[in-house]
Amino acid sequence: MSGQPYALRDAAAVITLDNPPVNGLGHALRSAIVAAVDAAQADPAVKAIVLVGAGKLFSGGADIREFNTPKASAEPTLHTVIRVVESSAKPVVAAIAGHCMGGGLELSLACHYRVASPDALLGLPEVKIGLLPGAGGTQRLPRAVGVETALNMIVSGNPVPAEQLRDTALVDRIVEGDLLPGALAFAREVADKRPLPRVRDRPAVEPNAEAFFQFARNTVAAVAKNFPAPGKCVDAVAASVSKPFEDGLKYERELFLQLIQSPESRALRHAFFGERAASKIPDVAADTPTRKVESVAVIGAGTMGGGIAMNFLNAGIPVTILEMKQEALDRGLATIRRNYESSVKRGKLTADKLEERMALLKPTLSYDDLRAADLLIEAVFEEMGVKEAVFRKLDEVAKPGAILATNTSTLDVNRIAAATKRPQDVVGMHFFSPANVMKLLEVVRGAKTAKDVLATVMQVAKKIRKTAVVSGVCDGFIGNRMVEQYLRQALFLLEEGAAPQQVDRAMEKFGMAMGPFRMSDLAGNDIGWAIRKRRYVERPHFVYSRVADRLCEQGRFGQKTGAGWYRYEAGRRDAIPDPKVDEIIAAYRKEKGIAPRRIDDAEIVERCVYALANEGARILEEGIAARASDIDMVYLTGYGFPLHRGGPMLYADMAGLYNVVRSMRRFEADPHGDPSFWKPAPLLAKLAAEGRNFND
Ligand SMILES: NC(=O)c1ccc[n+]([C@@H]2O[C@H](COP(=O)([O-])OP(=O)(O)OC[C@H]3O[C@@H](n4cnc5c(N)ncnc54)[C@H](O)[C@@H]3O)[C@@H](O)[C@H]2O)c1
Repeated sequence: MSGQPYALRDAAAVITLDNPPVNGLGHALRSAIVAAVDAAQADPAVKAIVLVGAGKLFSGGADIREFNTPKASAEPTLHTVIRVVESSAKPVVAAIAGHCMGGGLELSLACHYRVASPDALLGLPEVKIGLLPGAGGTQRLPRAVGVETALNMIVSGNPVPAEQLRDTALVDRIVEGDLLPGALAFAREVADKRPLPRVRDRPAVEPNAEAFFQFARNTVAAVAKNFPAPGKCVDAVAASVSKPFEDGLKYERELFLQLIQSPESRALRHAFFGERAASKIPDVAADTPTRKVESVAVIGAGTMGGGIAMNFLNAGIPVTILEMKQEALDRGLATIRRNYESSVKRGKLTADKLEERMALLKPTLSYDDLRAADLLIEAVFEEMGVKEAVFRKLDEVAKPGAILATNTSTLDVNRIAAATKRPQDVVGMHFFSPANVMKLLEVVRGAKTAKDVLATVMQVAKKIRKTAVVSGVCDGFIGNRMVEQYLRQALFLLEEGAAPQQVDRAMEKFGMAMGPFRMSDLAGNDIGWAIRKRRYVERPHFVYSRVADRLCEQGRFGQKTGAGWYRYEAGRRDAIPDPKVDEIIAAYRKEKGIAPRRIDDAEIVERCVYALANEGARILEEGIAARASDIDMVYLTGYGFPLHRGGPMLYADMAGLYNVVRSMRRFEADPHGDPSFWKPAPLLAKLAAEGRNFND
């Protein structure tokens, strides 16, 4: 290009947005665009300018790698680029293929014309990270596509195909076939037309503005309860109608700055980056070769085995499922079919697809049928002896290089691996129930698990659309190890004076999908009881409230027995407070000589969430989790922790670790419960003393 920042083609300066993988508008690219537009102004051979994306897309918007760095706001900012493009004396044509998102769409709206491939996707997804489009999107889009369409796009954040926008000023021409020649032909046609059309000069019209925006505000308030961004999007779009363009831009800026400082946006951005970070394992290079996984075997067709199998069937991967007895196999298959049938009834799946998926499933009673499988996942009873026997068998039949995974929730993956002669091929794949629905997959890394096995499992997780988080081997891995402390604390709260429904209500108001007692009733109180009985022996120095044991001694295992912390009516899941539970708790307090006191909701939330964060800190310092955001991803995707709070570790960060430790000292001084519980984990104490965060 001989030093020229653009390619001259047919009297048009072609400026290519080139910043893989998504042509993010990072600082270098922004500078290059300004330099190229300036040079094109000065070049008498240039009659028009065409902006086009390198590769298959226009631009994915801001370069997320620059987030939270000085480069993000360094000049030329996107605002400057937009001003330079919009005020060009020569027509600028955006040639849009593939994704044109966020800042990419805002940039194209500043161009004088836009041509697009029919399947190009245009959208402003900022709301999904708790923001609004802050570079004029809320003011220009309504002027280009109409107020209602713009509002829908901005509030939902969902992209729209160019084809659907062909009759609007956003898409001046749909180009079938090769985009660039089409864009150049268009540029030739408009090269001499003056004045240059600008989206900002168009009116944004809504005849019944007041009623329209009030209706929009009500609708948004009802669905976006915990998030301020959608409401602010409505306000910003309303300003495009009620204010002159420049005032609207200023107002958009104001709202943007408010949102970027909101805890909800911080939480959403944390989750957005946390999801990406979790897929990277610090000592496993991104280019580690992976093993091929084209067929899967599942051992055990119970609750988990069936759900696990469905994940692979949904992804078009054939599954062989093994059971010990024909009846169990039939039952497992019938459950899978029933699950799919209910999706068909709800209109989520076609009858053909159901049959297609079932055809990929091969039931068997013979280990011989597992010889060809690339990945074998065990989901049999939670007993070490049974698991060891299964793994010995898998070691005999699995082909060399096959990955052997266990879905154990509590057992030592290293011991399971030691039952084979190939511990490097053994890994934990801890799915959550219902396994075909829950997003979380804890990938448990054994002491000998090979790096390519980990890399492969992370890739498989993506294919079956799970959020995979790597955990080291420890009792309960990341999620259940933390939840044990959370539940322990919830039980202390009962002893000291709270009722189960008060604790649940406080935690649900905080945003948990389910309070700890409703959750225990769903999971089965007998499971926690079994764990506690083990703990009484293994950890005799730990104080546990025995109040839950009293409940279990009466057979109150939760929903499955019709009674637990609540009672349940046949066929219904509503948790109904039960005076019998109050009696059990009152009798327990009496026996222990505890005079109940009033506990407020704020104390309930602090104690339960800080119990999680403190154990999370131990998990971090032991290296069980690689980063705090991994722990948060476990809680957001597997434990119903509220997204707008960002996870227990970010919540603690936002409260300030200094304040967290202060609260813990206060709880420690309380004569009730277990004072040793509140000893801050060394990492937490250290970070708090240094004024730092878990997520620094
Ligand atoms: N249920 C949950 O919420 C949950 C969540 C995560 C992990 N897990 C783990 O998943 C595993 C399975 O749990 P589940 O809830 O599906 O239990 P389940 O009792 O519903 O299913 C276990 C199945 O394994 C079969 N089985 C037992 N021994 C076998 C053998 N030797 N060969 C072949 N099949 C055998 C049984 O017939 C049964 O159908 C356990 O390790 C459990 O800890 C369970």
